[in-house]
This record gives sequence, C-alpha cells and structure tokens, in this order.
Amino acid sequence: MSTVLVTGADGFIGSHLTEALLATGYKVRAFCLYNSNGSWGWLDSLPEATKGAIEVVLGDIRDPLCVREAMRGVDLVFHLAALIAIPYSYVAPASYVDTNIHGTLNVVQAARDLGVSRLIHTSTSETYGTAQFVPITEDHPQVGQSPYAASKIGADQIALSYWRSFETPLAVLRPFNTYGPRQSARAVIPSIITQIAFGKRQIKLGALSPTRDFNFVTECHLIRFHCKFQPRRSDTKEGRAQIKCASQNDKLYNCFHLSLLHGNDYCHRRSRLRWIYTCTQAITE
Ligand SMILES: NC(=O)c1ccc[n+]([C@@H]2O[C@H](COP(=O)([O-])OP(=O)(O)OC[C@H]3O[C@@H](n4cnc5c(N)ncnc54)[C@H](O)[C@@H]3O)[C@@H](O)[C@H]2O)c1
Repeated sequence: MSTVLVTGADGFIGSHLTEALLATGYKVRAFCLYNSNGSWGWLDSLPEATKGAIEVVLGDIRDPLCVREAMRGVDLVFHLAALIAIPYSYVAPASYVDTNIHGTLNVVQAARDLGVSRLIHTSTSETYGTAQFVPITEDHPQVGQSPYAASKIGADQIALSYWRSFETPLAVLRPFNTYGPRQSARAVIPSIITQIAFGKRQIKLGALSPTRDFNFVTECHLIRFHCKFQPRRSDTKEGRAQIKCASQNDKLYNCFHLSLLHGNDYCHRRSRLRWIYTCTQAITE
C-alpha cells in the first residue's frame, strides 16, 4: 500500500482529499499546522474510524526539518498547505512569502533529497490574474494581482525549477474556485447561501460583473485529478505534462441562478445541489 503525505490536510480541500485517498486505499499521513489546542482542523470533524486510520503529523511547512521528517518514507506528496485569503495577504504579505514560497521550497527540496516518486503542488487559477482570454489555459500569462497570487506564482516557479533543474517528478495543479462543505463562510457561495437562508430579499455580493469557474470539492476533477495526475521520473516532456488547470466550467450563474433560485436540478449537479439545500436548511433550522 502506498503512503501518501497530504500537507494542509487540516484544511478545506486537504481534508476532503485525505478522505478520498483513504477511500481509494492509500495509507495517509496528514501534515497539519501545529497549534497548542491539539486541533487537527477539519480532520477533527471526521468519523472516529476515519480519524483512526490517519497518521497525523503536526508541524509547520516553513520549517525544513519537520517537513523533511514528515516526508520520510512517503511515495506520493500532495502539497496543499498555504495561506490562502487574498484580503489578509494585503495585511501580512511577508507571511504569505514564508508559507507559500519558502514552504514549497522545503517540500520540493525534501522530495529531491528523499527521492519521493511523485509530488503534486497545488497552485491556483489566481496566478493568471484577470483573464486576458477565455477560457484560461495553461499558456495564459501569470499576473500577480495580490500578494497571495504573487506568492503562489513564486511557489509554482520554485516547484517547476526543481523539475527543470533536477527532474524532481512533480506536477503543478491550478484549480479554479473550489466550493463545498467545510469552505470558509467568507467565500462567495457560502455568502449567497447564508443570505438566502436568512431570508434576504436582495443578495449583496459587491461587483457583479466578474465570472468564475467553480469546482465542487467532493465530486470534482480536483480529487480525481489529484489522484490521476502523477508524473514519474521517466516523464521528460516539459509543458502541459507538468502544469494543469482544473475547472468544471460551472459559471456562478448556472450554479445558482438556475439551480437554487429556480429549483432546477441538472442531474450532473445533483450532489452540489444537495449540499446547497442542506446548508440552507441547516442555517434556517
Ligand atoms: N479554496 C479554493 O477555492 C482554492 C482554489 C485554488 C487553489 N487552492 C489552493 O488549494 C490549497 C488548499 O486550499 P484550501 O481552500 O483548502 O485552504 P485552507 O486554508 O482551508 O487550507 C490550507 C491549510 O494550510 C495549512 N497551513 C497554513 N499555514 C501553514 C503552515 N505554516 N504550516 C503548515 N500548514 C499550514 C492551514 O492549517 C490550512 O488547513 C491551497 O494551496 C490553495 O492555494 C484553493
């Protein structure tokens, strides 16, 4: 059985990925941010049997020693640990550089030193900035419009430089907005749900012109792609093999205007709708 390390396993996407990997039959080591409460973040909310199957390592991605120890004996690494809030990146940009860039450097250096056979670095579509053409492809220029985006561009380049320089077998995944259970309440979709659930007749969202693609966290390409996209040392081709955008082409309009407000139920969106309705009910009750 392969051992997989998930950094950021205590977070929104990482906790779902941990569950999906366990269900697929991997042995999962979960790297969670150390805190004095002994909290494992979202992993705390999993059933006892699931928690019992996870090897949890508390540490800090900024510390090369603990990252290396956590990666010892691991076949595959999914690197998700990061500071992700754009607004906070205006307030504390240096912490984004430390966590996202230095943290990624620690991961790729340990992967190189330990001969990890596959590493998937989770980037973000934010690295493309405002779309210069749509749909955004892997060839779209990267534009750092916030310290968060800039730090993720830096992290991507550090990771890719290890592929180019040392053939460290890694891939960079750039998911578009991801939503679903456990997502921060400040994000757009939870904000819409909360306002509807509290009976607001008018939804306040700020600027209405931007469009976004969305990935649903449990069903989407993200988890499947994470599991499928596994570069090996023998892959030598530069380019798309190493970088992948992940999007489901679900526009906010389709997701919400059609499904939530009119109650339409696209069959391939059923699980997402179920989540939206459950959330709405839970908040209303
Ligand atoms: N949520 C999205 O819509 C989205 C979209 C594209 C890409 N991503 C990327 O996916 C990854 C996961 O994002 P998420 O939405 O699950 O965010 P999240 O904040 O829920 O999870 C990130 C995790 O990283 C951990 N972390 C932060 N600093 C750390 C440190 N110094 N050491 C160890 N761990 C640390 C946090 O504890 C947190 O649990 C990130 O790399 C993010 O850039 C997210």
